[in-house]
Amino acid sequence: MIEIGVLGAGTMGSGIAQVAAQAGHVVHLVDVNESAVQNAKRNLEAVLSKLVEKGKISADEHTAIIGRINYSSDILSFQNCGLIIEAIIEKIEVKHKVFEQLEGVVSEECILASNTSSLSIASIGSVLEKSDRIIGIHFFNPAPLMPLVEIIPSVQTSNQTLETAKSLIASWKKTVCICKDTPGFIVNRVARPFYGEALRIYEEGIADFATIDWAMTSIGGFKMGPFTLMDYIGNDVNYAVTESVFSAFYYDPRFKPSFTQKRHSEAGFYGRKSGRGYYNYAEGVELPKATEDNVIGQEIFERIIVMLINEAFDALFLNVASREDIDLAMMKGVNYPKGLLQWADELGLDWVLSKLENLFEEYGEDRYRPNPLLKRKVKALKHA
Ligand code: NAI
Repeated sequence: MIEIGVLGAGTMGSGIAQVAAQAGHVVHLVDVNESAVQNAKRNLEAVLSKLVEKGKISADEHTAIIGRINYSSDILSFQNCGLIIEAIIEKIEVKHKVFEQLEGVVSEECILASNTSSLSIASIGSVLEKSDRIIGIHFFNPAPLMPLVEIIPSVQTSNQTLETAKSLIASWKKTVCICKDTPGFIVNRVARPFYGEALRIYEEGIADFATIDWAMTSIGGFKMGPFTLMDYIGNDVNYAVTESVFSAFYYDPRFKPSFTQKRHSEAGFYGRKSGRGYYNYAEGVELPKATEDNVIGQEIFERIIVMLINEAFDALFLNVASREDIDLAMMKGVNYPKGLLQWADELGLDWVLSKLENLFEEYGEDRYRPNPLLKRKVKALKHA
């Protein structure tokens, strides 16, 4: 079994190290910051002890897993690794410097992967001499619990790098989806309207946060409404992803960020982590009640779901991923109750299209333009 290197011992790096060690690999977890290394060690040991208490792993397994994780602040520990996953700060200049250094330490065969959410894999790989070893391996937070991993080959990636990464991550009992090196990959691209359209509906005064959340959970069957979810993710984090996807798509109005979210973020209303977001989580404060009006609820759900479906069609149209992977990614990465393309079939493609056409006509905004592939499919069905 190859040894795995994980660079960056923060939220994601520690989680990835846990997954790899539980899968039986010797793992080297490295961070420039000595206290981050110590924190990661403490947290991982606590998490693994909890797993013993819950009966998920035995005491022997616990000892073995802990024994397989080495902690260090020196990348020389990566010398014998077959794969390194970088999970450091999301800044391209820093990643460039680090990947150059990594290549100086590892063997010719070692795969160099990034867990980046928003940077281009091609750009990260551009600093490598042997750039066909670069690949994106994108876990979801928390890495040990979320089943999805998006694997992103860039224009430089060799087939061998892709195949090795794919089978390795699948052997860690993760659901692997292959995705083009495009902004937001699958999940962070296709999911944008879940937040963006909900915020827009709120801004238009159609409903308040609680009612929109109620519509999406009770009528749509989503596990969490958009505002509850944004409060979990953190408005600062979610806003930053939206802005980065928006600019990476050359300011396509489909991805336009929302002032409501910007102001909440600027005010420090990040969500659960700051005690207040769209909702107030202070002790003793009751959460607002939804106005459970089925007509409005249905309208909210329909508007958000057709926008999500349109985005899933766009990803398929531009070959970002296969139909199966687009559906699987949304179910395994963000817990959607159904894949969006399957959902579209169930709702009826012509119904989805006419809903989008109505929105496009009413608003005259490019954000509502129906995807050409959806239009073609509806046309084909009519002529079948
Ligand atoms: P974090 O802030 O929790 O951890 C980053 C760690 O990297 C810190 O411990 C820091 O000391 C270390 N670091 C910074 N520069 C370094 C360097 N030059 N060498 C070694 N270590 C260095 O960040 P988080 O949230 O774990 O994110 C890491 C990466 O994972 C980012 O690229 C992010 O986009 C991506 N990601 C984050 C997700 C999330 O939900 N937090 C989800 C999926 C991907």
